[in-house]
Amino acid sequence: MKYYGVFGNPIAHSKSPLIHRLFAEQTSQQISYEPLLAALDGFPEAVAQFFSNGSGANVTVPFKEQAFALADQLSQRAQRAKAVNTLKKLSDGSLLGDNTDGAGLVNDLLNNNVVLAGKKILILGAGGAVRGVLEPLLAQGPAEVCIANRTVEKAEQLAREFADLGHMTAAGYDWIDAPVDIIINGTSASLSGELPPLANTLVKADHTVCYDMMYSKQATVFNQWAQQQGAARTLDGLGMLVEQAAEAFYLWTAVRPNPAPVLQQLRAQL
Ligand code: ATR
Repeated sequence: MKYYGVFGNPIAHSKSPLIHRLFAEQTSQQISYEPLLAALDGFPEAVAQFFSNGSGANVTVPFKEQAFALADQLSQRAQRAKAVNTLKKLSDGSLLGDNTDGAGLVNDLLNNNVVLAGKKILILGAGGAVRGVLEPLLAQGPAEVCIANRTVEKAEQLAREFADLGHMTAAGYDWIDAPVDIIINGTSASLSGELPPLANTLVKADHTVCYDMMYSKQATVFNQWAQQQGAARTLDGLGMLVEQAAEAFYLWTAVRPNPAPVLQQLRAQL
């Protein structure tokens, strides 16, 4: 039996234990996967204790930056993200920090037949969630990634930091109105039912695909707006959640689970 889990605070409502237990069942892996509540000021101690016999852990809010700081080695994508959502104990006892969030987003988009190569992508938000997905997104070769943010300086900073990986631009919400191929909402505005002030002309009817990194039972506020503008398709972040988990499961076990039936089950339970 190998031991895995997810660190967070709060953590009781995390869907990760269900997702990983379903992956384990599907692939006949003998693993245990538990929610791991760490004290807000006790993350390093909780990690040290868990990894005395644990093999791997996911990390969620608010510990991803601390996990980045304490990992002994970092994957390329975690270095870019400056955040770690997956820890793996290596054979020498050291901890590898990875970030599977961006791969989760990209895989979910590709599963839904959304082509990213050569496309103009607008990303809303310039916080940790957006930073976490930029490297894998740029690796798909979009024509341009524009980051729009309420605080424009943060968008400009991110655009500068990732400019070596692709054509990056930055904007305030009121600077942009030209239609784009794909809009990804990475702001935390949806959490409070708010929407950034977006021009109606950003969505080209029956063409633009809109993706909200948040998810909910009913369409998110952003996806409702997108549907009103005639978006070709709206997708939400539940697929990203399952795909980032599949990527972590693969890192730990070298076995790739099939995310599709797990996503279906989670969707039915929302
Ligand atoms: P996360 O880890 O979820 O990315 P974060 O780093 O605090 O959290 O970033 C939150 C993002 O949502 C930021 O881009 C923030 O905009 P600012 O940088 O201008 O603060 C954005 N955001 C949050 N609430 C918003 C709202 N009501 N309208 C527009 N943007 C909002």
